[in-house]
Amino acid sequence: MRRFAVRTYGCQMNQHDTEKVSNLLHHGGWRPAAREDEADLLVVNTCSIREKAEHRLYSDLGALRAWKAAAPGRLVGVGGCVAQQEGDEILRRFPQVDFVFGTHNLRRVPALVAGAEAGRRRAALAEVRDPARFDLPERHPAYAGATPGRAWVTVMEGCDMFCSFCIVPTTRGREISRSADAIEAEARGLAAGGVREITLLGQTVNAYGRHDVRRGRSQVPFAALVRRLATIPGLARIRYTSPHPIFFDADLVRAHRELENLCPHVHLPLQSGSDRILEQMRRRHTRDDFRRLAERLREARPDVALTTDLIVAFPGESDADFRDTLELVREIGFVDAYSFKYSPRPGTRAAELPGCVPAEEAQARLQELQALQRGLTLAAHRARVGQATEILLEGASRRPGQVMGRDPYHRVVNLSPPAGLDPRPGELLPVRLVEATPHSLIAELAVKETHGQADEAKRRRAESVKIASRTGSFSA
Ligand code: SAH
Ligand code: SF4
Ligand code: F3S
Repeated sequence: MRRFAVRTYGCQMNQHDTEKVSNLLHHGGWRPAAREDEADLLVVNTCSIREKAEHRLYSDLGALRAWKAAAPGRLVGVGGCVAQQEGDEILRRFPQVDFVFGTHNLRRVPALVAGAEAGRRRAALAEVRDPARFDLPERHPAYAGATPGRAWVTVMEGCDMFCSFCIVPTTRGREISRSADAIEAEARGLAAGGVREITLLGQTVNAYGRHDVRRGRSQVPFAALVRRLATIPGLARIRYTSPHPIFFDADLVRAHRELENLCPHVHLPLQSGSDRILEQMRRRHTRDDFRRLAERLREARPDVALTTDLIVAFPGESDADFRDTLELVREIGFVDAYSFKYSPRPGTRAAELPGCVPAEEAQARLQELQALQRGLTLAAHRARVGQATEILLEGASRRPGQVMGRDPYHRVVNLSPPAGLDPRPGELLPVRLVEATPHSLIAELAVKETHGQADEAKRRRAESVKIASRTGSFSA
């Protein structure tokens, strides 16, 4: 039996691509290795969003020379966004690499592996405009997927936005949407197989179908797609990531009011709170547009949890621009944020811009922003103590003896399962939140609640309201 392992970097799209490649390899007779040193094939699925991410590949490849030499016949494959970008150059520079596959060429992996076994070193990098590239075999019976009870479903891929800082339009190519029928069929199949939560994936997921709708093809707007999927029996939760603010139409906002199984969490990248910088970033909206969108979402769904992505030290970002970001972040009260220092990407517009922010200044801004967000996150968590919610169990927690799952707001919730109860990953569990920490919430199983616990929860709730009113209020 031949064994494979995959190292995955980058976003959920890349993680899902790893699942797709793993499934294809299963169909080709491969099975996962328990550890990399038991593998015959190692695939590195790469990310190039920031310089550091890209450098991971080069440091990995250095170490993989020894891995490859340790046993005869071992193979190394490189895929993902760096592969798409660098292509043949990777084969040229790194003799330890046997094959390279770009982001449109997942289906070629089994053939590339077979070629590599026969001694042929190749790169498959062609742009594939045909949505048939999404037609992949069903889950192999021996492959359960990486996430019990949950699944990603690609609805569109690529990006035509060309934000000035971003490499993704180069590495993922032009926007392509799958047919709504194919998406629905996949979602129905997953639900029938016990999946309770699907996350719709796309680089600008809510731009789904926009080119096709205009050309009169069969696709529907994103909100209509969500509405179709929401009727599938057994699907308790629908999520999507990442939407772009400018494609948030009234119907998608309304869907958050109307659809019970559409999760009350929206990851809505803001990037900057300064109009000047937003313009330089080519985000095509203002801080006010964003603020109004957040308000509309909260009107539709008062408990909605908003999370975001932010970039500090974009070229030319002044201290005043950065203060604008801090102010808007505080005002909107994101429940969580991923924040990054700007990293110039070769070939992007922003890489040509003057006004590089000195490294120490960039670091100081990042720290200030992250400190602000830590406070906001903790306050949001505290405001929820005492609430009843439901978690979809993912597995063992980082906290010893506990299990973890996520609630509908996408918060991590840890739980000590009562003795004798052995909840399994993929199960939905009713819980009551009893404690807030900076990174997660702690819960008790709701069905086991005793009077003492209820009193304790009430006391904590009263306390958290006090804290929330001290720090500015939260709707989460
Ligand atoms: N498609 C998503 C973003 C995908 S990339 C969207 O449109 O928002 C994830 C995040 O990485 C981005 O939201 C941005 O905050 C960050 N990012 C992208 N390029 C970057 C760069 N050159 N430097 C620093 N952060 C970057
Ligand atoms: Fe990158 Fe902008 Fe496209 Fe998002 S919308 S993937 S940030 S170019
Ligand atoms: Fe990285 Fe490519 Fe995703 S650059 S963030 S893996 S789309």
